[in-house]
Amino acid sequence: MLDKVKELIGEVSVFNATTINEIEAFRIKFLGKKGVLNNLFVEFKNVAPAERKDFGQALNTLKNSAQNKVAQLKETLENATEQKGFYGDLTRPSEPIELGSRHPISLVRNQIIDVFSRIGFTVSEGPEIEDDWHNFTALNLPEYHPARDMQDTFFIEKNPDLLLRTHTSSVQVRYMESHKPPIRTISPGRVFRNEDISARAHCIFHQVEGLYIDTDVSFADLKQTLLYFTKEMFGKSKIRLRPSYFPFTEPSAEVDIYWGLETETDYKITKGTGWLEIMGCGMVDPNVLKNANIDPEVYSGYAFGMGIERIAMLLYQIPDIRMFYENDVRFLEQFKSVL
Ligand code: PHE
Repeated sequence: MLDKVKELIGEVSVFNATTINEIEAFRIKFLGKKGVLNNLFVEFKNVAPAERKDFGQALNTLKNSAQNKVAQLKETLENATEQKGFYGDLTRPSEPIELGSRHPISLVRNQIIDVFSRIGFTVSEGPEIEDDWHNFTALNLPEYHPARDMQDTFFIEKNPDLLLRTHTSSVQVRYMESHKPPIRTISPGRVFRNEDISARAHCIFHQVEGLYIDTDVSFADLKQTLLYFTKEMFGKSKIRLRPSYFPFTEPSAEVDIYWGLETETDYKITKGTGWLEIMGCGMVDPNVLKNANIDPEVYSGYAFGMGIERIAMLLYQIPDIRMFYENDVRFLEQFKSVL
């Protein structure tokens, strides 16, 4: 009798099955109502008292190993079926999804858009590959003009000239061609220049330029708008306008904000002066209005332009412009908390 049970334990341990039917047949054979185990338990009564202990233990071993076998085979089968299904078990909790962060250039661009949209400016966009007219000539920069040197760029085709735009002033020309005054728009976008790459300059960068055209627009309107912008953007309320030159504006100015000289960083970024240049601006040159079929006797306007990288470097104290384009996650992850 005992030998028979031991033999059965051996049979159970080597048993294998790959379908649910085979497993069920095995279960019924051993653990079913009229199965092997129940029969053996019935026979237990006939076993001689001296052999009962061993027999009983062997019987329990057989029962446990049959039960374990069924459970184990079922699990293996379930796992195999699960892997075959493309999505597995859809009710299982998912892996945690890590949220990314916005790029600092997008953060600052959105902030600038936000500040200007509150005073009625729309957002306009245009192509990065431009023709000579929209990037230069219409902006009072004819072919022979020496100021073209300041914005040397990458030419894609010659005659007619196609080039990578050097500023988003080109978008403003397009906007004037397709809209009638009053015009209030800002043009954010990527621009290109043939510059040596260093910690402070790159051949690709981003700008936001603004254009305001209406009747009776004066330099005072420009100054007030810039003051509003610097207060909202930097929390600084002192600016100065230094006379400058741009072919498309007359008069023209560079805008400096008073950053202060409170910390060592203030000293460093303002080179000890407390003042920081942040953008160019001016009253739109009458020739530019004429080129866009706007009557300069009726309308006047102002324009301004700033580099987004420069402002982001100031706000987040980023020491090298190249960091914006390297896509190093250690750099980008630092902006996770900014919305
Ligand atoms: N387009 C100029 C530049 O890229 C900036 C600017 C815009 C200056 C509008 C004055 C008025 O340098």
